[in-house]
Amino acid sequence: AATNNQSTTHIACTSQRHDSKVNMNRILQRFSVASVVGRGSIVRFPERSFLGATFLTRRKIVPFSTTARVKSELAKQRHVRLGDTAPNFTAKSTEGDISLHEYLGDSWGVLFSHPADFTPVCTTELGRVAQLKSEWESRNVKPIGYSINSNADHAKWIQDINETQNCKVDFPLIDGSDKSVALLYGMLDPDELDAEGLPLTVRSVFVIDPQKIVRMILTYPASTGRNFNEILRVIDSLQMTAYKKLATPADWNKGDRAVILPSVSNEEAEKLFPGFTTIKPYLRTTDKY
Ligand code: BEZ
Repeated sequence: AATNNQSTTHIACTSQRHDSKVNMNRILQRFSVASVVGRGSIVRFPERSFLGATFLTRRKIVPFSTTARVKSELAKQRHVRLGDTAPNFTAKSTEGDISLHEYLGDSWGVLFSHPADFTPVCTTELGRVAQLKSEWESRNVKPIGYSINSNADHAKWIQDINETQNCKVDFPLIDGSDKSVALLYGMLDPDELDAEGLPLTVRSVFVIDPQKIVRMILTYPASTGRNFNEILRVIDSLQMTAYKKLATPADWNKGDRAVILPSVSNEEAEKLFPGFTTIKPYLRTTDKY
């Protein structure tokens, strides 16, 4: 019982401290980057919840010059939309210098960013991409990783990834130390900041087709590792549309019945997918693909 009381008291104290911290944080959030402490300003970091507890993540006081840099970096970001031509770039990478369009050639591409090298979730993600090598190859896809780390960091980290994830990372990681690609694709997140309080990339994914058109964009938060099987599934779907005039219904997986594109006439559909099923005039399906 004594132990229980002690632990109850401890929890109550922690909770009080926690409440006042949370209140303080709310005040700080309201004042955001305008708050002044001494000669610096407070960069807003949102509360994070984990196992029912709310706490502040990496809130720190940084000089005005830094908050001005955060704002100006974010303001420089461009944004890529579906249907855009993937912005081309030339950069150093762990596989040598890369010019994106030239490197992709007739392949599809998956350009994906992560917050930082030597972090746990990113380590598992990069390992997973390496493990899926044959899946990318069979779909004619080249994966390309990116973070604002240097080539030297990438090269050192790859050794850890290979060791811990039982894989061989042999796709390029772009040297992002000048942040130019992050700015070009709009990968920087105002809430994920590095040790200097400057924005980091989040988990962005751009699927690029052989004509260099961006066909899929996805953004996950830093704390959630991506499901690369889902990205492969989307590529399967995109390729069904590009090569077979088919779309894919909810929860579709390769082999399941697909949907005939509305732009395909019944006459053409009969030639392409003999015996297709008409559920409604606008809902026609087939498994012959
Ligand atoms: C990670 O890769 O483990 C990670 C990075 C930033 C925030 C949280 C997790």
